[in-house]
Amino acid sequence: MSAFENIAALLHKERPGHTLPQMLYVGQEAFEFDTQVLLKSVWLYACTVAHVKKPGDFFLFELANNSIIIVRGRDGEVRAFHNSCRHRGARICQEQQGSTARLMCPYHIWTYGLDGRLLAARNMPEGFDKSQHGLLPVAIENIGGLLFVCLSDDPPPIDRAKADIAAQVAIYDLEHCKVAVQDDLVEDANWKLVMENNRECYHCDSNHPELIACLGTNGFGKGLPEDLAESAAAVGAVDDTKFVEVIGAEREEWKRLGLYHDLIEFPDDWWHRIARLPLANGAVSQTMDGKVASTKLLGPFTEPNASSLSVWTQPNSWHHFCCDHIVTFSLTPVAADRTLLRTTWLVCEDAVEGVDYDVEALTAVWRATNIQDAWLSHINHRGISGDGYRPGPYSVEEKLVERFKEFYTSRARAALVRTGQAG
Ligand code: FES
Ligand code: FE
Repeated sequence: MSAFENIAALLHKERPGHTLPQMLYVGQEAFEFDTQVLLKSVWLYACTVAHVKKPGDFFLFELANNSIIIVRGRDGEVRAFHNSCRHRGARICQEQQGSTARLMCPYHIWTYGLDGRLLAARNMPEGFDKSQHGLLPVAIENIGGLLFVCLSDDPPPIDRAKADIAAQVAIYDLEHCKVAVQDDLVEDANWKLVMENNRECYHCDSNHPELIACLGTNGFGKGLPEDLAESAAAVGAVDDTKFVEVIGAEREEWKRLGLYHDLIEFPDDWWHRIARLPLANGAVSQTMDGKVASTKLLGPFTEPNASSLSVWTQPNSWHHFCCDHIVTFSLTPVAADRTLLRTTWLVCEDAVEGVDYDVEALTAVWRATNIQDAWLSHINHRGISGDGYRPGPYSVEEKLVERFKEFYTSRARAALVRTGQAG
């Protein structure tokens, strides 16, 4: 059987309400299918506009063998290009990020403008046309300051996700934020397990003391008024009525402040979820003491606010917008059992480190949580690798895990159909 036929056979075995077949998590063929086919057919979160703040700033987004240069032009526009020289193909940018007047290939010094046009190439034969040798563009979209790329020549629609997300994150004004800290953490687990772990808080009470002290577990697949019907019918149901009352009152307050939007939860096979949620225990930020980490508040906030806006996208990102800082997460597969989780904390561009914000205070909750989650994903991967693994059932609190799995399987089937394999 070909590799694609094997993937199609595994997808055929997949059962609703259950985790995936073993080899879709741990197999080398699935890793190659994911990175060479599936993830090239969807929009991926790469970074924010604040990563490329000034003209000439660039940032690399890498997926397996592909390296994409995201660069801000002199006109302020952010563009994306394949990081392969049009001469003999060398990688142009070697650094993860930087700032440059031109994109110059170190091999034979072909030089490109920030808009990708080839500007200089020495000693080429007569008739050589520079205009035919610009950098190959990659599709990129700016959604309220969050940058998404798609490696397909025919990217899927993005309009609804763009409108819904931008409508709520625009107030945080990412163009006027700066990257305060960025952590790259390579987790020893398949990327789908890292995503699944993010899509539920069934594990939070027992694993995330720092996180639940400021964020709570409700709103992440359970606890909202919108979740009540499923929760009430659950075997071993947990009573969420108190939180439903709390969020009802909070929503009235958000309406008064002009912050309220209805919950958006992966509508009509789209790939985004957006929820404003109350922080827990009187916290006004996702910090150890619940206090702001940066005294320069963001966007419309003139005083601390006890809520945060959370955005999740399939298949590789999540984001939390507090009144004083933003934290964004992107993940990319590195190997069948290794995943890069990139966490970026952003603050107001005017905030001064050591004066207005403190790195330790800003990062402590999510640094602790990321390490805990990396371990959970790792033991998940190890357990799935064994002969005793059988696809297991999701709890009602894990419906967002199932939504991720549905996204994965539906896009995988569609990709197989495009490649001529029945999905
Ligand atoms: Fe880039 Fe030759 S490969 S200049
Ligand atoms: Fe977690």
